Amino acid sequence: MQARNVRSHSTASADGVIVGMYPGKRAAAGTAAVTKALGAWIRGALEAAGFEGETGQTAILPNPTDTGPGTVVVVGLGSDLDLESLRQAAGYGRRALPDKARTIATTLHRIDLDGAVTAVLEGLAFADYVFDTYKSKSETRSDLTVELIGGPRDLPALAEAADAVSDMVWFARDLVNEPPKGKAPIELAERVANVAAGAGLSHEIWSGDDLHEHKMAGLLAVGGGSHRGPCMLRLEYTPRGAKQHLVLVGKGVVFDSGGINIKSTEFMATMKSDMAGAAAVAAAVIAMARLGVKTKVTAYLALAENLIGGGAQRPSDVITYRNGTTVEVGNTDAEGRLVMADALCVAAEGDADLIVDVATLTGATKVALGPKIAGIYARDADLADRVQHAADSAGERAWTLPMPVDYRKWNESNVADVKNTFGIRYGGGIGAALFLEEFVADKPWVHIDIAGPAFVDDTEHYILKGGTGYGVRTLVELASSMAG
Ligand code: BES
Ligand code: ZN
Ligand code: ZN
Repeated sequence: MQARNVRSHSTASADGVIVGMYPGKRAAAGTAAVTKALGAWIRGALEAAGFEGETGQTAILPNPTDTGPGTVVVVGLGSDLDLESLRQAAGYGRRALPDKARTIATTLHRIDLDGAVTAVLEGLAFADYVFDTYKSKSETRSDLTVELIGGPRDLPALAEAADAVSDMVWFARDLVNEPPKGKAPIELAERVANVAAGAGLSHEIWSGDDLHEHKMAGLLAVGGGSHRGPCMLRLEYTPRGAKQHLVLVGKGVVFDSGGINIKSTEFMATMKSDMAGAAAVAAAVIAMARLGVKTKVTAYLALAENLIGGGAQRPSDVITYRNGTTVEVGNTDAEGRLVMADALCVAAEGDADLIVDVATLTGATKVALGPKIAGIYARDADLADRVQHAADSAGERAWTLPMPVDYRKWNESNVADVKNTFGIRYGGGIGAALFLEEFVADKPWVHIDIAGPAFVDDTEHYILKGGTGYGVRTLVELASSMAG
């Protein structure tokens, strides 16, 4: 992980300067001094660049002197600026500068919004992400230094908090971007457990016989087709004085080939990302520990590889869960709900005040909401609102979808209690949510389907194509709100 330095003064030796401007070329606070220093030609330069100050617009200004600041980037702030568009503006600014610009000065944080400093630091850090583990000619990048011109007095604490979140978004992206060969379930569990231990978390891994002993029917069935066996990782964060217990569950299918119901080429292409839910919950609980959030958090990562092999489960097999529920496997490609059910059974046995599961669960939710928005499902509307609010505050896009009880009948099976395929063509995201509901007993529970936003094809503002780290910020926000 790369380090970031933040200071609240400018050394005047920055490689790049990012300033913000509203439409109508009204400079954001702190920018006037910069524009003045650069001279009157700035308006002409902006006009020449067709710059209007709209969201997502950037203009690079020619450097008027040899000794002045490095490249100056002006980013549009749009007319309706909030924390998330500010975070995005910082991302646009970072990406407009060359990667080799390692010291970046900015005035973007001098905007009258609570949390502006954190948002700017996050946007810069998220956009500075690179996954070059497997590039033979990658250049080593030095640490990123951010200079907040005229920055706030409480900078160290703010910078530390922004770092905790940024590091963990990077970590989640790293795990998702890692090719499947490099993340067998047990390897992934150990990698996560190591980072978690560094943040003071305790953990436990169930693998092999443990899985039989604890009746982890879904993991054993889904993982049966791979030589690289499944496992369950539990992470525990127990801060002193916590009043609430949040239990997180993440889908960790390290590669989803579909199993015997094999996927077509097109749909298999991105399936190394099918463990993004597990990555998000792990990264989030580690971030919470670093931030000292006063909520007890337990995270379960259900890790398995969905392959074809002599030990693979067959469509029409029936498996029996720890809570006694029997499930007919209608389709081996609906494996996510099978492994999630194991973790939800265990989660529901404890004293959780809230269970939240995060999973790249259904193509149907992605069809419904498109690639940028997650689906929130809960039987209790107030709980859905809490998670929706956390996502909104964190700047992660999500939308609450219904769980109508009269749809439950489409999860019925002729031979078992339920089956893992929905009986009709439509509403598959709801079907999966209703399936998961069978395993949470009467516990307060919310399900987040991140099949869309976990992994994207396009680079935009601070989001780079590939794994996005979606969910980390929402979960951190949620745990913080539970701490009161
Ligand atoms: N991992 C997929 C869901 C998915 C699709 C995630 C697209 C990210 C992007 C899941 O395991 C799956 O294959 N679901 C099937 C279920 C169907 C077979 C009932 C689906 O959604 O098509
Ligand atoms: Zn699948
Ligand atoms: Zn899957």
